[in-house]
Amino acid sequence: MKAPYLVLARKYRPKALGDLVGQASVAESLRNALKEGRVAHAYLFAGPRGVGKTSTARILARALNCAAGSGPTTEPCGRCDPCREIEAGGDADVLEMDAASHRGIDDARALRDAVSFRPLRDRHRVYVVDECHMLTNEAWNALLKTLEEPPGHVRFVFATTALEKVPETIRSRCQVFEFRRIGEAEIAARLRRICEQEKFEVGEDLLASIAGASRGGMRDALSLLDQLVSFAGPRPAPEHLVELLGASERGGLLALFEEIAAGDRAKVLRGLDDLFRRGADEETLLDQAVGHLHRLLLVRLCGKEAPGVGESETPERLEALSRQAARFSPERLEEMAQALLAARWRLRDAPALRRAVAEVGFLRLCRGEEYLPVGAILERLEALERSLASGRATAAPGPAATGPPAPRPAEPKALAPSPPRPGATDPWSRVVEAVRRRSPLAAESFARCRPASLEGPVLRLPVAKLREGERRLVEDARNLAAAEAEARSALGPGTRLELETAPAEEGRRPAPRAAPPVRGASADHAAAEVARQFDGDVLEEGR
Ligand SMILES: Nc1ncnc2c1ncn2[C@@H]1O[C@H](COP(=O)(O)OP(=O)(O)OP(=O)(O)O)[C@@H](O)[C@H]1O
Ligand SMILES: [Mg+2]
Ligand SMILES: [Zn+2]
Repeated sequence: MKAPYLVLARKYRPKALGDLVGQASVAESLRNALKEGRVAHAYLFAGPRGVGKTSTARILARALNCAAGSGPTTEPCGRCDPCREIEAGGDADVLEMDAASHRGIDDARALRDAVSFRPLRDRHRVYVVDECHMLTNEAWNALLKTLEEPPGHVRFVFATTALEKVPETIRSRCQVFEFRRIGEAEIAARLRRICEQEKFEVGEDLLASIAGASRGGMRDALSLLDQLVSFAGPRPAPEHLVELLGASERGGLLALFEEIAAGDRAKVLRGLDDLFRRGADEETLLDQAVGHLHRLLLVRLCGKEAPGVGESETPERLEALSRQAARFSPERLEEMAQALLAARWRLRDAPALRRAVAEVGFLRLCRGEEYLPVGAILERLEALERSLASGRATAAPGPAATGPPAPRPAEPKALAPSPPRPGATDPWSRVVEAVRRRSPLAAESFARCRPASLEGPVLRLPVAKLREGERRLVEDARNLAAAEAEARSALGPGTRLELETAPAEEGRRPAPRAAPPVRGASADHAAAEVARQFDGDVLEEGR
């Protein structure tokens, strides 16, 4: 098995206050508080996704607990046990939890009770509660008292992307830091440094475009860089970015949610496979999908004049969005977004199964309106736990298990394939154009591996000279099938395509045709395993 590749966003997580980009006032306040020994008992970090909230929470935890000196420090050493374990998320005194899946009163009570224990090793117990706006009012109430008079060894960091949803009573008991979107110049500068370290050659213009496309989110910027390099190699050109953005924005998400609306799981899996092949990483894909759902929700509730949508979309896309929005109820859009956020959180629990976690998350959206709201699921779980605890093995009350939702009739695709370019008469150009109708990105790769000879029933594609990302696009069974169909119509019904995976040698037989990407039994098994592990029985139905 290949060693897991650490995505740039995780590899370059800032480790000290000085590393944080674009959050100067937050860093300055924390630095002063640490110096003067006035670190607040509870912080509330608010701001958009991927701008440094979790990173800062971990930096603060290290600063409080670094064992190199005799007390908290503004410059944690990075080498002692607490420093290293906090970075890896494995320090027993630094507890990160996700309010999206632990939002009820019992979780809050458990937290409140745990708070009174002394730290196991470190100076402070640090509780990081992510997506804290998801906590219920009862849960907050259970925490209120603790927030008023927390034991001296305890620090809370609440993080949220929706400050306005955090009750005022809580906000007033925390020190609130608002994290900002990061300026394009600062993002570009960080990217430039990372490119130097990774030995990528990326021009200034391209860095600026990546920074612009990531709308102030550093994680988005890093993940875009990741995708770009995995597709185009260490010396990407501006056209590659244009293709990449176009492909994932236009074709990708909109089409994916069409399949979700139709309840077609197989197509959803294939669509995801496409996006992953283009180098999307799980976190970003889930983020982008949540963003897409958010836009759908806005359009569903406010029409095409929805605030913040119209300005950033072309009229065609707005039309497609509004058509798609009409296929879902507002409640379902919200539940879908929550389900994806929950999946996103689980990624970190199962690093080896990231893809499976993401796929299961998306598959769950195919359940149509019968899809259980998160609240109902939690209630059923709690009821089940209670009944187990009291020794009764009765099933939890709740909606009867139903089969998969009946697929709705598919509407016409929002996006018609682009017509072939005029003048494509040469047989290979015809093949390339046929592939372009499936995937503009793949077409470029096919264009680059034109067979040496267009004679005879077998055309050999010199894929060995392509970069890995390009080659995978050519090897994709569906792209190959599209190409072969066109080759047949251009050159005769017996025509076949074969991949030449190594430079031709004397006496060497041509490489066998790439097999279609089969989702192996083990991958399915892993996905089912993840579903079981995280969802218990309630979410198994309909799979
Ligand atoms: N201010 C920043 N300076 C440098 N890198 C950053 C910054 N913010 C984010 N990053 C990069 O993005 C990654 C994700 O950041 P982080 O997890 O801190 O974001 P977040 O604000 O907690 O996002 P979310 O709301 O999605 O949880 C980091 O690992 C790091 O690589
Ligand atoms: Mg975070
Ligand atoms: Zn240390």
